[in-house]
Amino acid sequence: ARHLLGIDHLAPDEIVTLLDLAEDYVALNRRTVKHADALEGMTQINMFFENSTRTQASFELAGKRLGADVMNMAVAQSSVKKGETLIDTALTLNAMQPDLLVVRHPHSGAVNLLAEKVNCAVINAGDGRHEHPTQALLDALTIRRARGRLQRLTVAICGDIAHSRVARSNLILLGKMENRIRLIGPRTLMPAGAAEMGVEIFEDMRAGLKGADVVMMLRLQRERMDGGFIPSEREYYHRWGLDADKLALAAPDAIVMHPGPMNRGVEIDGTIADDINRSVIQDQVEMGVAVRMAALDLLARNLRAERGRAAAGVMV
Ligand code: CP
Repeated sequence: ARHLLGIDHLAPDEIVTLLDLAEDYVALNRRTVKHADALEGMTQINMFFENSTRTQASFELAGKRLGADVMNMAVAQSSVKKGETLIDTALTLNAMQPDLLVVRHPHSGAVNLLAEKVNCAVINAGDGRHEHPTQALLDALTIRRARGRLQRLTVAICGDIAHSRVARSNLILLGKMENRIRLIGPRTLMPAGAAEMGVEIFEDMRAGLKGADVVMMLRLQRERMDGGFIPSEREYYHRWGLDADKLALAAPDAIVMHPGPMNRGVEIDGTIADDINRSVIQDQVEMGVAVRMAALDLLARNLRAERGRAAAGVMV
């Protein structure tokens, strides 16, 4: 495919291929000299219309380690602030002949729309509450490394599921890989239609965590909430915050994950987040760079092949 817009479009064997390639990049990134040439001569533009620490930094590092010229568009200083639309901004940058556009946007579907208007490869770095495909892929790599497999695991996704593109992409990916998925959280933070998603739903966190192999925590995404009932942080932590007592109900070797940014003392106890025997949160960040290198590499290969075919067609 030309773009990476969501997990929905990926077949299980494509997911495995990407994770296997990412393993090579994990090894490369642990060396002192981290350069490869998969994107040599190519131009990558990162357009982040919403805040980011992990995703933007890792896409920038990934592109640079693969030899691309990487430009981070400074949205706050751009003509977006003068009323230019997303599409006009994208068309303007497209005219500068980038090969890869990495886009984060607060509106669900905005990145898909943009991908229809440009002639380079587009990667969705998170759009509204829709999808965050590279997050699910880096989570998958983290799970596979920590648990030795990516199938037949009981994965508990806990917290604000309704507003979470991370939960949505993970649900799709982990479902494709035949895992058992549990959604845990307040009823008001469950997505509409959750009951028809082939998952188990729990409001009682203790019941939901029983025997789980993977415990994935999510923050309350207040920026995407529109006035529904939200418990106080204190009550939320009491009922749905991950602490040692609740984690003791999961499998003895359960891993704890969090995509970040994390709110200590709200959805997770800081001691658990820092416990290197249980928490793989820093591994997730490391896998993020490798998975994004793999995604950029594969898209660049597809783009070269597509352009090669087009050039051959012109010459015939
Ligand atoms: N997990 C994630 O997307 O983090 P950032 O918002 O910091 O990129």
